[in-house]
Amino acid sequence: MQANSSSPATAQVQIDLAERSYPIFIGSQLLGQAQTYQKLPKAATALIVSNTTVAPLYAAQLTQALQAHYPKVLLVSLPDGEVYKDWPTLQLIFDALLENGCDRKTVLFALGGGVVGDMTGFAAASYMRGVPFVQVPTTLLAQVDSSVGGKTAINHPLGKNMIGAFYQPVQVICDLDALQTLPERELSAGLAEVIKYGPIADMEFLDWIEAHLDALLAKEPAALAHAIQRSCEIKAWVVGQDERESGLRAILNFGHTFGHAIESGLGYGEWLHGEGVGCGMVMAAHLSQRLGLVDSAFVERLTRLIQRAGLPVKGPVLSATDNAGRYLELMRIDKKSEAGEIRFVLIDGPGKAVMRAAPDALVREVIDACCA
Ligand code: NAD
Ligand code: GLY
Repeated sequence: MQANSSSPATAQVQIDLAERSYPIFIGSQLLGQAQTYQKLPKAATALIVSNTTVAPLYAAQLTQALQAHYPKVLLVSLPDGEVYKDWPTLQLIFDALLENGCDRKTVLFALGGGVVGDMTGFAAASYMRGVPFVQVPTTLLAQVDSSVGGKTAINHPLGKNMIGAFYQPVQVICDLDALQTLPERELSAGLAEVIKYGPIADMEFLDWIEAHLDALLAKEPAALAHAIQRSCEIKAWVVGQDERESGLRAILNFGHTFGHAIESGLGYGEWLHGEGVGCGMVMAAHLSQRLGLVDSAFVERLTRLIQRAGLPVKGPVLSATDNAGRYLELMRIDKKSEAGEIRFVLIDGPGKAVMRAAPDALVREVIDACCA
């Protein structure tokens, strides 16, 4: 697909999961278009879950559109931030559902970034043992990754996304226009997850990102549309084969083992998730090189691109006394760990990812070399 027009047509990517299949719509002005909502389940009530930043921007538009389909449209606005991806904030969604007498057909709409999406999905998975939900992602990160594939979760102080469920939405609506209000730092965070798809699955896409990075940073709609569509296609291909991460799906966590350690080690919200992933990919690439899987030219190329995208490429120091030890301690809590052994997603030649363990001594060398 070429990204050369300034107003891209609506694209559709399908997630194929038998009876849990659903479409991802990608285009401009989707929030206001009646056909966006045509195939959604009927219900007496729709509950929009958003936050104090996104609701003032987009909740009125979504409410108006949904009022044509649902007799009652409600809004719950959560506090904004990764630090609120927790039990007390999740409880606010259940409070809204129960206080308004919402039945088991109620449709939840997650209007926001990955934090709102992950929490709304988890609430939908558990309210009355499961109600339908729709993802309306408004960050680049959420449009290319978190709204797709059915991972829902909240954080625990000891580990990121440790409490959650696999639960698929019934539709994903990626309105490109929403990205125009996204702060630069958040755009860069989203680019980390876009870049991720290259080294793990599609080096031609990596070439394309390198060539169109300036257009992406300038939020050109055609470039954004292509980046979102290709990212969703790759994610759909992976999730369609391994919905519950018994193997292949773990490749989507390239950079996340180091990244999650950074996020929880610094305290949630200090570094953005995408920043942790960007820097984590640099560290994982270095580890891949030390294991003889890729050459230094590949590591340098990836590092340069991540830096150009506005992301940090040097890890933070998490402990003044034993920094590498602290990273290792945090990484052992990762969901991919088995019997305390950390399993890393590594690049096994450009465009192909593998998951494997690595000797602690080698991981320590990488951390020492990659932290500022
Ligand atoms: P986020 O949800 O915190 O959103 C980032 C910031 O941008 C917030 O302040 C938000 O209010 C604001 N914002 C959102 N849309 C906006 C818009 N259109 N205009 C202006 N401001 C806007 O962060 P995120 O990067 O979207 O998501 C990160 C979260 O996603 C993490 O918790 C991560 O664990 C999770 N995640 C989940 C998956 C998954 O598969 N479920 C995948 C990747 C990441
Ligand atoms: N973001 C990783 C996954 O969806 O599996």
